[in-house]
Amino acid sequence: MRALLVDRSAPAGLRLGEAPDPEPAPHQALVRVTATSLNYGEVTAVVRNAPDGAVPGWDAAGVVERAAADGSGPAAGTPVVTLGFEGAWAEYRAVDTSYIGTLPGNADFGAVSTIPVAAGSALRALHRLGPILGRRVLVTGATGGVGRYAVQLARLGGAHVVASTGDPGAHGDALRALGAHEVVDRPSSLGDPVHGVLDMVGGPTLVEAYGRLAEGGTLVAVGHVTGEPETFPFGALSGDLGHDRSVVTFFLPSCGGLAPDFTWLAGQVASGRLDPGISWRGGWQKAQEAVALLLGRRLHGKAVLDLGPVF
Ligand SMILES: NC(=O)c1ccc[n+]([C@@H]2O[C@H](COP(=O)([O-])OP(=O)(O)OC[C@H]3O[C@@H](n4cnc5c(N)ncnc54)[C@H](OP(=O)(O)O)[C@@H]3O)[C@@H](O)[C@H]2O)c1
Repeated sequence: MRALLVDRSAPAGLRLGEAPDPEPAPHQALVRVTATSLNYGEVTAVVRNAPDGAVPGWDAAGVVERAAADGSGPAAGTPVVTLGFEGAWAEYRAVDTSYIGTLPGNADFGAVSTIPVAAGSALRALHRLGPILGRRVLVTGATGGVGRYAVQLARLGGAHVVASTGDPGAHGDALRALGAHEVVDRPSSLGDPVHGVLDMVGGPTLVEAYGRLAEGGTLVAVGHVTGEPETFPFGALSGDLGHDRSVVTFFLPSCGGLAPDFTWLAGQVASGRLDPGISWRGGWQKAQEAVALLLGRRLHGKAVLDLGPVF
């Protein structure tokens, strides 16, 4: 099959080539991939660390070619969206049925391919905050793949949403259109404290955001795009009266039961209630261009690759 392979001698460390067809385990379906979306995490960590010849890729949408041998998951011919640790950037992927959501008939494969890592993380991280109806929620890195979904889902969940972006002048209107009630340049610019934070940035931003938590509030540490350490000022973690606050870590693959969430999210995207935030879309022969834009911090939203004939 054709696939995007890790090749450190190629631009952006990727080239289109041939790879062996995947052999599904009994609990895996074989899916013919039609679209995939790129995530910051895979483009940085996976492409840099995976061996030459590996087929990376976490998110993919397509059609079930062969149902799982153990009888779990959707039947052959079902349109689906899928998550895995590797193998999405290829014509076929073998994927655990517990990581497969099904699509409504009108779904755009490219649009729903943005769901698993970005929308799945936003949804499950919001769950960690508990009830958000009527409560203030801060989303940092709000213009990114996870952040844009988090802003929309927090709004859908009834929160008062505060979006934090490095450039409110450039992105404020777009974030308000997605549902943000307020847009700030950094957490320390917040007025009232917040009940919950979804932090995609890490480093000093996480520390600042923690400092803006109300009593009983929770910060979910989803991402660390800055690569900087978190250093808390003395006393920040003390348990004095009025300081009952939590920081929790988050790892999407550890979340069980994702398949129904992917199905629900696909319905929201297909119906137009959630904007997938595609800021770049092209054929997979242009993957190197998309990767360069993502790494250069010039993409604010999702990059989608449509798989099509290239040879
Ligand atoms: N724990 C998990 O299971 C999990 C799951 C999904 C994602 N993640 C992590 O969550 C983070 C966000 O993922 P994503 O896919 O949303 O990434 P993304 O699309 O690249 O967005 C990241 C956003 O962070 C902001 N940012 C602030 N400082 C930055 C910097 N120094 N470099 C780049 N961006 C910076 C940018 O927004 P502004 O320019 O508007 O400030 C950017 O839009 C990543 O660290 C990713 O690995 C973790």
